[in-house]
Amino acid sequence: MSTQDLPLDLSLYPEGTSLDPDGRLVVGGCVVADLVEQFGTPAYIIDEGALRSRARAYVDAFTSRHASSLVLFASKSFPSAAVIGVMAQEGCGVDVAAAGELMIARAGGADPARMVLHGNAKTDLDLQTAIDAKVRYVVVDNLDDVDRIARLASSPVPVLLRVSPGIDASTHDAMMTGHDASKFGIPSRQISEVVARIRREPMLDLRGLHAHIGSQILDLEQFEAEVAALAKLEHFEVYDLGGGLGVRYVHTDNAPTVEEYADRLVAAVHRHLGNDIELMVEPGRSMVARNGITVYRVVTVKSGARMHVAVDGGMGDNLEVSLYGQPFEPSVIDKQGPMVTCDVVGRHCESGDTLVKDFDLVDPAVGDLLAVPVTGAYCFTMSNNYNAARRPPVVFCRDGVARLAVRRETFEDLMSREQLIERPA
Ligand SMILES: Cc1ncc(COP(=O)(O)O)c(C=O)c1O
Repeated sequence: MSTQDLPLDLSLYPEGTSLDPDGRLVVGGCVVADLVEQFGTPAYIIDEGALRSRARAYVDAFTSRHASSLVLFASKSFPSAAVIGVMAQEGCGVDVAAAGELMIARAGGADPARMVLHGNAKTDLDLQTAIDAKVRYVVVDNLDDVDRIARLASSPVPVLLRVSPGIDASTHDAMMTGHDASKFGIPSRQISEVVARIRREPMLDLRGLHAHIGSQILDLEQFEAEVAALAKLEHFEVYDLGGGLGVRYVHTDNAPTVEEYADRLVAAVHRHLGNDIELMVEPGRSMVARNGITVYRVVTVKSGARMHVAVDGGMGDNLEVSLYGQPFEPSVIDKQGPMVTCDVVGRHCESGDTLVKDFDLVDPAVGDLLAVPVTGAYCFTMSNNYNAARRPPVVFCRDGVARLAVRRETFEDLMSREQLIERPA
């Protein structure tokens, strides 16, 4: 045990996060404990100002280096109308992977002319919704997409071809998408055949290539290798290089800045693909991760063979730990005291429902508030109803004002889908 005599390390929290004179955590100008009074726990809290400035930084970083650039927010990383709306207001387009994401993006005010639809198993509904909305590009992932678009379209649809550039990105296996065995895209050896096939279809207008090598990539050389691999193929007028830039989850991580990423990527594009192409990128995680935190209430503290601190959420609102083993650094907030080593666990009926193991927290006690920073990406996305948990609200904070962006699910919401089946006579 050691006494916490240093202030909470805020560098993982949204930029501008502070402690007030009473030592209380303040995000987006709002005291987190006050937000909890109003909105309860668990809750996703988004710093709207930080989100807006991140979106602007991305747009500036690319358009200042390559005028014909479009930053598409990867809506899968936070598919809420409010988040996508903020992105659109700050100059981003949107990438969507299904009809539902497209509908949420439109509800957020995003313009289909600045949208791209991709996905490895697009249904007729996905494609028809995108074609009817006149999205900027539909990404062809496979020959079945070619057949479907040819059948569904009544005028030529601008398309990109997703290719698998044969890159084994150094990230979690489940986040690798650009290697030869990937379920996404067309491997290099088949590309010319698929290009020829697309060109035979009058309802498909092939404009360029799309690639995405994976997520949480911290080594910029991998993106340069992606561009170099694309340059070995036929030259096109449009390139969508996907997303994937990694972020800092724990204080020992090092992540490139958006400017460093744009510098290296655009330089590689100019070197290998030329200056006159239309360039798109699809950042998700690096756009939203740091701008969101999750706040929980400690429900039980049990000291046995190990010290278990259990909170009122877990894998219902954060699947990143169980899916990818993503480390997080939670903190008991608004409290000073001795540090206690514990396992922070969730409330779901599964031993794998652990937020972090062997971690030092300030004297955890029932009723304390626990904040987990860097939960802005993919946590809301994959929130679920395990143990009939109600999915948490999303609260936007800006200049000391809190607004509800997504309300907490109710038990009525859960019951509204249920139908009873009568016993046979
Ligand atoms: C095609 C595509 N584009 C963009 C993204 C966003 O990636 P990230 O959130 O790592 O930036 C993904 C997610 O893996 C993706 O599959």
